[in-house]
Amino acid sequence: MTQRNDPCWCGSSKKFKNCHWPEKPFDLLAYAKKHHILLKTPLQIEGIRKASKLAAFILDILCQEAKAGVTTDHLNSIAVRLHKEHGAIAAPLGYGEPPFPKSICTSINEVICHGIPGPRALQEGDIINIDVTSIVDGYYGDCSRMVMIGDVSEERRRVTEVSYECLMRSIAILKPGLPIKTIGDVISDYAESHNCSVVHQFIGHGVGVEFHEEPQIMHSRNKDKTLLLPGMTFTIEPMINAGKAEAIVDTSDSWTARTIDGLASAQWEHTILITESGHEILT
Ligand code: MF3
Ligand code: CO
Ligand code: CO
Repeated sequence: MTQRNDPCWCGSSKKFKNCHWPEKPFDLLAYAKKHHILLKTPLQIEGIRKASKLAAFILDILCQEAKAGVTTDHLNSIAVRLHKEHGAIAAPLGYGEPPFPKSICTSINEVICHGIPGPRALQEGDIINIDVTSIVDGYYGDCSRMVMIGDVSEERRRVTEVSYECLMRSIAILKPGLPIKTIGDVISDYAESHNCSVVHQFIGHGVGVEFHEEPQIMHSRNKDKTLLLPGMTFTIEPMINAGKAEAIVDTSDSWTARTIDGLASAQWEHTILITESGHEILT
């Protein structure tokens, strides 16, 4: 329980009595429990940091390998080998219902997310999102990036760059005491002012002890007043469209999500830790 002379729980580095006093003493653990949020212990954070580092390392290699002529199946097989070499598990394989059939997601052009690697070779002008989630010693790290294959159209470049800015600008403001809804505000303000829309059917998520935990992190405008707390680990992964925001999931595989108008979509993702004074990007 925060006492009057303790540092304020909100991370302002002021004394509680000079900051959020006279609000009733803030019980961090009770608040987290009420919102089904797992606050991670230092030991768990070490595990999540290790898994996140590996996911980012594998993603780095996959992005270097993503070139014209390379199939997404080939990228998947590299991911399988790297996870094996590091004694890790790729979280997507077998996840969900129906079970996801591959070890990474590869989402090309108008595919918003959850694209399934296959025999399609990358072509000059494509944009691709590669999404890696690694399990190390039971802990999860989750991240994704875009690669532009050669020269790409203005529309594809725009969503690629805008989604990156949306991610990094929304991370920059993160600290204890911030309402989750602020993330959606920052992303929506930037995307809308750059002639793009924000996907609302897929969201960021708590991550670390499980693949998808509370809280949900909406990237579009929302009213979620839940506060960020030290010890939270979650993803931000804005999906930004050049045209309409709506997604349609392929009925033949129940995973591949595409834009309703066939225009381009892009996404970047990090796993983030909320610290006592701010945040740390783990991936
Ligand atoms: N990695 C994705 C995310 O960012 C989830 C993929 S689910 C899968 O949340 F089953 F397709 F792997
Ligand atoms: Co994620
Ligand atoms: Co991911």
